[in-house]
Amino acid sequence: MTRRDETYAVSVPGASSFPCSQGDTLLRAALRAGVPAAYECNSGGCGTCKFVVEDGEVAVLQEEPAGLTARDRRKGKQLACQTVPLGDLTAQLLLNPQWPSGHARPRRFSGEVTAVRPLTHDLVEITIVTDRPADFLPGQFAMVGLDGVAGGPAHTERAYSMSNLANPEGIWQFQVKRVPDGAVSGRVTGLTRGAVVHLDGPYGNAHLQDTDRDIVCVAGGSGLAPMVSVARGLAVRPDASRRRLDFFYGGRACRDRCAQEFVAEISGALSQVRFVEVLSAADEDDWDGPRGYVHEALAAAGPAELADRDIYIAGPPPMTDAVVRMLVLEWRIPVEQIHYDRFF
Ligand SMILES: Cc1cc2nc3c(=O)[nH]c(=O)nc-3n(C[C@H](O)[C@H](O)[C@H](O)COP(=O)(O)OP(=O)(O)OC[C@H]3O[C@@H](n4cnc5c(N)ncnc54)[C@H](O)[C@@H]3O)c2cc1C
Ligand code: FES
Repeated sequence: MTRRDETYAVSVPGASSFPCSQGDTLLRAALRAGVPAAYECNSGGCGTCKFVVEDGEVAVLQEEPAGLTARDRRKGKQLACQTVPLGDLTAQLLLNPQWPSGHARPRRFSGEVTAVRPLTHDLVEITIVTDRPADFLPGQFAMVGLDGVAGGPAHTERAYSMSNLANPEGIWQFQVKRVPDGAVSGRVTGLTRGAVVHLDGPYGNAHLQDTDRDIVCVAGGSGLAPMVSVARGLAVRPDASRRRLDFFYGGRACRDRCAQEFVAEISGALSQVRFVEVLSAADEDDWDGPRGYVHEALAAAGPAELADRDIYIAGPPPMTDAVVRMLVLEWRIPVEQIHYDRFF
């Protein structure tokens, strides 16, 4: 008979074995143990964490996650971020040879909502305080979990990026966009002070890098939070007064505008800041700034000035993919200078 606190042993051929607590996913257990498992979204969307079970029994969180094709399924592939071991397991887990050091290992904990601030008609800044330091790198995300989401399991989670910086006071800030008919974003944006929220993190590889290159941030829609964190991280570096930031933000209409406040906040700390805001569907009467999509604004700026930068991108997958395609295929920017999170 299984006990709630049971721990299983996971063996990865060619790597050391690690423990997995009952109910944890294979990916999270690996990361908690410091095993450099390959992943991006931790949400079943990107397919980076595909693996094959060699021996043992598992359950899955999603039957048909977007990150697995029918061909993958025929070949017996699964997603480590959506797989829960049911006993000891041997798994051909893909490891990331470039896994950076300095990541805090993800842990589970709870926090209390202390402030809720509307940023636009559908974007809300939520501040959560925990009783342990907020330990993460600028640009990382956490899984935010709520109890009793209609139609979901007892505890339903989604990935949300922190917009602030690590701090000993345990303050975690998120900017959450209310998605129409969204199971969790609707609940998170409706939270009030005093609500208890489950957190699990930090996760994510698209964080501020320790290089001396100037940086470009590209945010679309709800992708603002990690780009604000990356920009804030740059602004507190010892060499900030010699660093340049180009911040591109793409929204739909005037009522989506709020990014400027965050860029203005850090611009005094940097040597040069350019803020470019582009709207794809603004009314003629309301907006005389640039129109179109954020990758078009970046294309208009051109590679001559931007190609030697570290470039950070966050937002909906079509926008992120369009930017990355342009940077890699047209601008020929080395992949180690490009860091992105797609918000599946
Ligand atoms: C690494 C990562 C970081 C993220 N960071 C943030 C963040 O900082 N802020 C934030 O607001 N979101 C962020 N997201 C997205 C977030 O995790 C959820 O996917 C989103 O809030 C929708 O969840 P839901 O439960 O409300 O919608 P669901 O119930 O899961 O989906 C409802 C419907 O909405 C569609 N949908 C899902 N997401 C979106 C979207 N973003 N825009 C339009 N339609 C959508 C779905 O396809 C579905 O049809 C991030 C995602 C990832 C993977
Ligand atoms: S990390 Fe598992 S699908 Fe993205």
